[in-house]
Amino acid sequence: MVNSPPKPTVDLSAAKTKAIKENILTPRFYTTDFDTAAEMDLSAQDTELQAMLAEMRADYNRHHFVRDESFNQSWDHITGEARQAFIDYLERSCVSEFSGFLLFKELSRKVKDRSPLLAEMFNLMARDEARHAGFLNKAMGDFGCTMDLAFLTKNRVYTFFPIEWVLYTVYLSEKIGYWRYIIIYRHLEKHPENQFYPLFRYFESWCQDENRHGDIFKALLRSQPKLWQTWQSKLWSRFFLLTVFATHTLTVHERTGFYKVLGIDPTEFDAEVIRKTNETSLRAFPSVLDTEHPDFFRRLHRCSDLNWKMSEIDRTQPKWVKALRKLPYQLRIVGHLLRIYLTKGIDAEALRETVR
Ligand SMILES: [Fe+2]
Ligand SMILES: [Fe+2]
Repeated sequence: MVNSPPKPTVDLSAAKTKAIKENILTPRFYTTDFDTAAEMDLSAQDTELQAMLAEMRADYNRHHFVRDESFNQSWDHITGEARQAFIDYLERSCVSEFSGFLLFKELSRKVKDRSPLLAEMFNLMARDEARHAGFLNKAMGDFGCTMDLAFLTKNRVYTFFPIEWVLYTVYLSEKIGYWRYIIIYRHLEKHPENQFYPLFRYFESWCQDENRHGDIFKALLRSQPKLWQTWQSKLWSRFFLLTVFATHTLTVHERTGFYKVLGIDPTEFDAEVIRKTNETSLRAFPSVLDTEHPDFFRRLHRCSDLNWKMSEIDRTQPKWVKALRKLPYQLRIVGHLLRIYLTKGIDAEALRETVR
């Protein structure tokens, strides 16, 4: 935080609606094959799913997302780079929560007549994500900008993912979300002097929502043997882990300002989130990555450096030169990721057998 004279960096009078800068790291909006989803046989995980449904109905966070009086003050003293970094963080988080809401709501609506259990589950998850997105959007309002979520719904491009991919990727995004929120929360518990805005105090119960969502996706995934019994499922699992982790490393290192304001070392934070998420995924996925391999983080950090160099090119060059100059960097990033992907993974099913 910089102690220069208060100066809102965002135009308050215009009730500015944020336009999202699109790039490969921007959170996406998804659609899927609703018929296949409706026809999934969930019987193998019925007990687990019923237990999760009871928890979702109990709605433990019903009264959690209410802004208390600590929000009622001006935040104009947060200025410059710190302010921009925080607004960026709120924006990305709000878009990913809202993207979850839209997908869950649509799934609930489309499977309603054929799979009532799934429909109710998705409806209750959509309820949580709407609260999360709404809470973040109000926080953005404190900083002079809100997102027009209705406009976003109509004007975003939806990426199609088969339901199998949805199960892998949403499981991961819920669990990585859980770890991100709880690690920030625990850090600020130890360093309350860095809590520059009350939002972070809400993360402890908030992350429990994400954890529950992740557990629901784990049960859905385990109900489909082809998603963990086949050799293809091992390849897909590691592929999605790698894409989610690479995106995380690149995004965190693109926005180090936000973490520094919180007194968090971005590189350590990124590594802890990745290690924990990978470890958690052992319970759901048939195969995970070897994050302890000496090359694992070294290569991810190389990707992040190359990504930085590409963003410098983006800032300075005309369009056609940019594409040409960025190509070798992109190829090197793909090379590093491929080497991580081809490194021997950890066989979760074999571990499950030994535990039994
Ligand atoms: Fe959420
Ligand atoms: Fe969630």
